[in-house]
Amino acid sequence: MKTRSLLALTAALGLALGAGSAFAQTIKIGFITSYSGLNGNLGPYMERAVRLYMKQHEKDLPPGVKIEILVRDDTGPNPDKAKQLAQELIVRDKVNLLAGVIFTPNALAIAPLATEAKVPFIIMNAGTAVITTRSPYIARFSFTLWQSCYPLGQWAAKRFKRAYTMVSDFGPGHDCEDAFVRATKEAGGEVAGSVRVPLVNPDFAPYMQRVKDAKPNALMVFVPAGKTALAVMKNFGDLGMDKAGVKLIGPGDITTDEELPNMGEAALGVLTVHHYSAAATRPANKAFVAAWKKEYGANETPNFLSAGSWDGMDAIYYVIREQKGKLEPDRTMELLKKYKNPNSPRGPISIDPETRDIVQPEYLREVRRVGGALANVEIETLGAAVKDPWKELNKKK
Ligand code: PHB
Repeated sequence: MKTRSLLALTAALGLALGAGSAFAQTIKIGFITSYSGLNGNLGPYMERAVRLYMKQHEKDLPPGVKIEILVRDDTGPNPDKAKQLAQELIVRDKVNLLAGVIFTPNALAIAPLATEAKVPFIIMNAGTAVITTRSPYIARFSFTLWQSCYPLGQWAAKRFKRAYTMVSDFGPGHDCEDAFVRATKEAGGEVAGSVRVPLVNPDFAPYMQRVKDAKPNALMVFVPAGKTALAVMKNFGDLGMDKAGVKLIGPGDITTDEELPNMGEAALGVLTVHHYSAAATRPANKAFVAAWKKEYGANETPNFLSAGSWDGMDAIYYVIREQKGKLEPDRTMELLKKYKNPNSPRGPISIDPETRDIVQPEYLREVRRVGGALANVEIETLGAAVKDPWKELNKKK
């Protein structure tokens, strides 16, 4: 008798739980980033931000709503692999959203799939301007290279007589070069020369030597953040470019926060324009960095890829809350176009409803020693709410 009532109780409980789970909603997010290949150490900077956000904000989800993250490694700039992963996530795993992606070629390969399947795609890094025009289901929470390199060119034209440019030979490099050269010329500055280097494993030394021989006052570099940025800094230092009177400048990718401890003296005094620095003293950033260190260790630091992923998650939570856990793709996109956060770690941000691209501050920073460690110190705000200049300049009249 006893056993029987226990069984009945268990069955009733099971039923109750079963009924409960019928209302429970699991949102599946296909999260694609790089854990191997070129700069494969960057993936965890994105995933850690996603997981930290989820841990802090579980209570902000509607009752019964759960999030499942399906993590995939696209193996670096590899559009075929990225496309295959996105296809599987959409067709087999039936994800509600796609998110992540460091490299432009991968984002471009995924764009048509997002359109075809109507799966909103939250870009957390890839920064070539054109990406958001390739699918109405894309919204970007990172940056464009035009956003940093155009104001950089405007500023540098006043400060340096002649600048040389060196960029990785792919989308974001071309954008940065175009933006910097255009802004420099518009401001009456001179471009001494421009060189494009292979994306994967270039030998920077001969390119640096060529620049040194041209004797410019500044060298503007874009290469992807991570180990590529470290290699540039090492070559710049080894060739004594600084002593030869060449100032290193660029978008913040070249002094990415996580590599500063490895860059050493060569990075001191490097001037960059970017939207995010781990050293920023805004309360929202101090809280973000403190939470990061508490979760991952005192010597760990977030970088701009972490900031993009954090803000992308904030937008995802917002669309989930607004739809009470039942995501509808077109409604999700309408909501993303209205997204605003006055208090992101990088400052006030919003999505431009016309372009689905982020609007954000751009800061001039200098690498300085702060409390014994190198830091990207924000010294001036060049623009408080910068829209992608490429889209602004190419607007149909
Ligand atoms: C890109 O592929 O769009 C990309 C990669 C690394 C960066 C910036 C942009 O640091």
